[in-house]
Amino acid sequence: MHAKSRIEIKSPAEIEKMRKAGKLLRAVFAELEQHVKPGITTRELDSLARKLIEDAGAIPAFLGYQGYPATLCTSVNEQIVHGIPGARVLREGDIISIDCGLVLGGFYADSAYTYPVGCVSELAARLIEVTRNALEAGIREMRPDNRLGTLSAAIQKVVEDAGFSVVREYTGHGIGRAMHEPPQVLNFGTPNTGLRLRPGMVFAIEPMVNVGTWKTRVLNDDWTVVTADGSLSAHFEHTVAITDDGPQVLTS
Ligand code: MF3
Ligand code: CO
Repeated sequence: MHAKSRIEIKSPAEIEKMRKAGKLLRAVFAELEQHVKPGITTRELDSLARKLIEDAGAIPAFLGYQGYPATLCTSVNEQIVHGIPGARVLREGDIISIDCGLVLGGFYADSAYTYPVGCVSELAARLIEVTRNALEAGIREMRPDNRLGTLSAAIQKVVEDAGFSVVREYTGHGIGRAMHEPPQVLNFGTPNTGLRLRPGMVFAIEPMVNVGTWKTRVLNDDWTVVTADGSLSAHFEHTVAITDDGPQVLTS
């Protein structure tokens, strides 16, 4: 689905601009996470995010993207990704995956976190921790000369060693002057295969992890992706640059 198949190499100056976008996005999440509590609606979280982004002179990246109607994706419990904010009220024990992207100075930043709402089950807490660890394991492999499959396999290993499963149908991606650039970054794979990583490549790495089956289904709203078996799902994402010194997380 990519118009161009060439992977862009960003200059240090471009990466610096992407870091500015990433820093702003991190600040948006820092504010949002204060509001993730029982009683808030996903629409209230969305309005807050939109205001924070626009007040900072940036543009919500998801709003209007292929007709998507909101600033955030808010995916609760068995929802994996692309949950549409609305009247749903968060309840104690829920988990919510919040995905947000913005454009600043012509460059995109994309990030996601899964948060517990109040006190959650041990299983939910473990799912969140494993998914965060899987993202970190992937990021650690983002070094020059490493191959893309090594990164993908590192994510998969953390997830499957914990007894969970990694979603197949949705992937990470290159990012820069567009939200989605080549390559696709799979969350499963074979070490030492695929593209060789080079300094200046910037990827959004985003493992989506299910307690049960990796299979998914899309709800009638044509957006919300849920686990086929109704099991819980979590999602973490960072925008990360590969540099001579190794990975640099731009959204932290
Ligand atoms: N983080 C998601 C992605 O990289 C965001 C796309 S959601 C949409 O694909 F709402 F913008 F479609
Ligand atoms: Co993304």
